[in-house]
Amino acid sequence: MSTGGVTLNRHILEEEQRHPEATGHLSALLVQLGFAAKILAREIGRAALVGKFGLVGEKNPTGDSQKKLDVFANDTVVEAFAQTGLVAGIVSEELDEVKILSCEGKARYILCTDPLDGSSNTDINGALGTIFGIYRRGTSDRCDVQSEILGQDAQQMAAGYVMYGTSTLLVYTCGHGVHGFTLDRELGEFLLSHDNIRCPRRGRTYSANLARAREWHPNLQRFIDYLTHGNEVTKRPYSLRYTGALVADLHRSLVEGGVYLYPADGGHPEGKLRLLYECAPLAFVVEHAGGRASTGWQLIRDVQAKSIHQRVPLVIGSSHEVALCERFLATGQP
Ligand code: AHG
Ligand code: MN
Ligand code: MN
Repeated sequence: MSTGGVTLNRHILEEEQRHPEATGHLSALLVQLGFAAKILAREIGRAALVGKFGLVGEKNPTGDSQKKLDVFANDTVVEAFAQTGLVAGIVSEELDEVKILSCEGKARYILCTDPLDGSSNTDINGALGTIFGIYRRGTSDRCDVQSEILGQDAQQMAAGYVMYGTSTLLVYTCGHGVHGFTLDRELGEFLLSHDNIRCPRRGRTYSANLARAREWHPNLQRFIDYLTHGNEVTKRPYSLRYTGALVADLHRSLVEGGVYLYPADGGHPEGKLRLLYECAPLAFVVEHAGGRASTGWQLIRDVQAKSIHQRVPLVIGSSHEVALCERFLATGQP
């Protein structure tokens, strides 16, 4: 029987077979991520019907009000990975500290996750996401997940995101191309829909919360002035697109080209987005698709995390626009 499509699980296994040294453990983790994504897609889709809108009345560790769906998403992702016995610990936006799952020999991985990205969109049927980065632990037998993830020991092996939009799309990379899978709800399977995504070198859109632009570095205001100033040769003005969900805005830039930025501002002197579970995984994806990710001053992959919930400024997307933004920051001109 021909199914006419490549399922996520088959794709993961075929990737694994390209690496004779692979143990199958990373594949097992990616399969579980797909499983968690299906549960989340189902629950997000019916949240309005089953009382899952609104707040739980708590703040998460980085000070944001927690939504019921934030808690559900965190529990779902943690449970899916805990079942494998392959994960030593999880760093999550919704958990104060590293959640230690196992210190046994086969628990060689660490997961960093924003289980539900764009939570302000939950109650208005807006786009949401899940971001994940999977790291392999170093060789030390000591089980100190926090030191490993903050030090140089842990190596990023895979990353990706799930976008819950008009369809549910899972994008992942293990460092050999970036691939996207759309959930066929009737089959209950993610099917390959975006093979080997390449981020266009240039785009036509920018995404940023301009309400905060007055508080930005003056050179960033010059960058936005430049983007919005008409010029036929350099195809300006750019168009503004901002959904309130990093995953959705980044996905647009990844597929069509463009730039997303969340710089430092008065309320967020170090930027708003979190290095380990928002910026670093998306930087891994975008770079493997040919794009660029930086703080505006330094590549995201070169930033050494000092704490698990550390924030950094983020400029991410097409290499041309990200480099242009960096030049503006450094010199005030293109
Ligand atoms: P989260 O819902 O995980 O806290 O992330 C929200 C992030 C990001 O997804 C989005 O682009 C940005 O915060 C929106 O922030 P503003 O409302 O300040 O624009
Ligand atoms: Mn987020
Ligand atoms: Mn979140």
